[in-house]
Amino acid sequence: MESHSNLINSMINNRVNINHQLKSFNKVLRIEGDKSLSIRWALLASQATGKSTSHNLLRSEDIKSTLNCLKKLGVRYRLLKNKCEIFGVGLNGFHFKKKIVLDAGNSGTLARLILGLLIKSTNTIKITGDKSLSKRDFLRVTEPLQKFGVKFKTNKGKLPIFVKGIKNPKPIKYFENKGSAQCKSAVMLAAILTKGETYIKAKKSRNHSELLFKHLNMPIKILTHKNYDIIKIGGAKKISPFNYNIPSDISSSAFFLVLTALCPNSRLKIKNVNVNPSRIGVIRILKMMGVKIFLKNNKIIKGEKIADIHVKTTKYLKAINCPQSLNSSAIDEFLVIFLLAAKANGTSYFKGLSELNQKESPRLKWGSKILELIGIKTITTKSSIKIFGNPNLVLDKKIIIKNFLKDHRVFMTSVIAALAFGGKWTIHDKDSIKTSFPSFLKIIKSIKNNT
Ligand code: S3P
Repeated sequence: MESHSNLINSMINNRVNINHQLKSFNKVLRIEGDKSLSIRWALLASQATGKSTSHNLLRSEDIKSTLNCLKKLGVRYRLLKNKCEIFGVGLNGFHFKKKIVLDAGNSGTLARLILGLLIKSTNTIKITGDKSLSKRDFLRVTEPLQKFGVKFKTNKGKLPIFVKGIKNPKPIKYFENKGSAQCKSAVMLAAILTKGETYIKAKKSRNHSELLFKHLNMPIKILTHKNYDIIKIGGAKKISPFNYNIPSDISSSAFFLVLTALCPNSRLKIKNVNVNPSRIGVIRILKMMGVKIFLKNNKIIKGEKIADIHVKTTKYLKAINCPQSLNSSAIDEFLVIFLLAAKANGTSYFKGLSELNQKESPRLKWGSKILELIGIKTITTKSSIKIFGNPNLVLDKKIIIKNFLKDHRVFMTSVIAALAFGGKWTIHDKDSIKTSFPSFLKIIKSIKNNT
């Protein structure tokens, strides 16, 4: 086995080599700001009249792309050491110059949400993205937004998209049935630029936009049902500037929650994490699998639940027949959750997950590929995966992970698998972490130094 200091023994050529199974650790972590909240804060701050400030804004490529797109629309911002200021131009205040190209980079959330704010653009605006984003579906947002009267030209439903707004968009009725917070939020943002009330019936998904709209006193009414919400939104008159101290991202935290559960005699506390009930599917699933995980120091800030998460090693992992009702609240965490199922006692089953193949890469396929590479049998369909767990899983073979469309979560899941199960791994495209979690490898090193 490689020496301890060789845990991550090579960081050349944009890849990492990991040849060391992690032993016990005991750590307290702070994780970077939540990506969903960071993008929403920036977009809404751009619509406020005056200066809004955020602390702990995620400093990643997706947020850089957000700020760059806003800049092209005439919004000024200042990124300082520990805060970001956005000088909002007010509702209807964007400058729609001719031939603007907005590059959303890798961010589906940015590309889809910002379309909602362009429904009154007076010139045609082009939206582009990187190779991964250019493979993703945009009809899911252009179709509802068209109903406001906006004109779109797409490349068979994909990027690049050309959008030309209208002067007086009309409110719409919209049934969101994928459980997509991005679609719901794009329509919500468009609704505030109309006169009249937009009606949305939406399958359950993360509700950060709703909570922010309420915090900003926007004309929003929400009726919550078991499987869906009814959201009614009127045109907004003005948004006052607002400050936001962004809590840590549960999706980034999830990698370390799983790592702790899988490593021997380990403990972890992650401070100040956003534990909004619409995001904590991972915590619920871990609990169902027998992982010792609990929340302490609970607070509610601007409608968002925040807590410290405590987790411990789990010797006996139970297989899970994962309830579909948890799918949307764990949608970004399934790849790493599959690693727990790999080590569980028995066969785990995850279903109704076709949306997972609509992400930065086809993640259900990648999940099954990683499991296959580590010798775990799966039966995978377009929307489900059965994982035949092996509680004695330990690896000693060579594994190479590459060509995954630079999907940050495929990269990070592979690193966790390498550290938890051993083997000799080469994982390509380390730069992918820059989109959502730039300090990921630094934290991995700090854990390794603690063992
Ligand atoms: C997000 C919603 C989810 C999630 C994405 C962030 C958001 O996508 O996968 O990482 O911030 O609204 P969908 O809405 O497409 O499910």
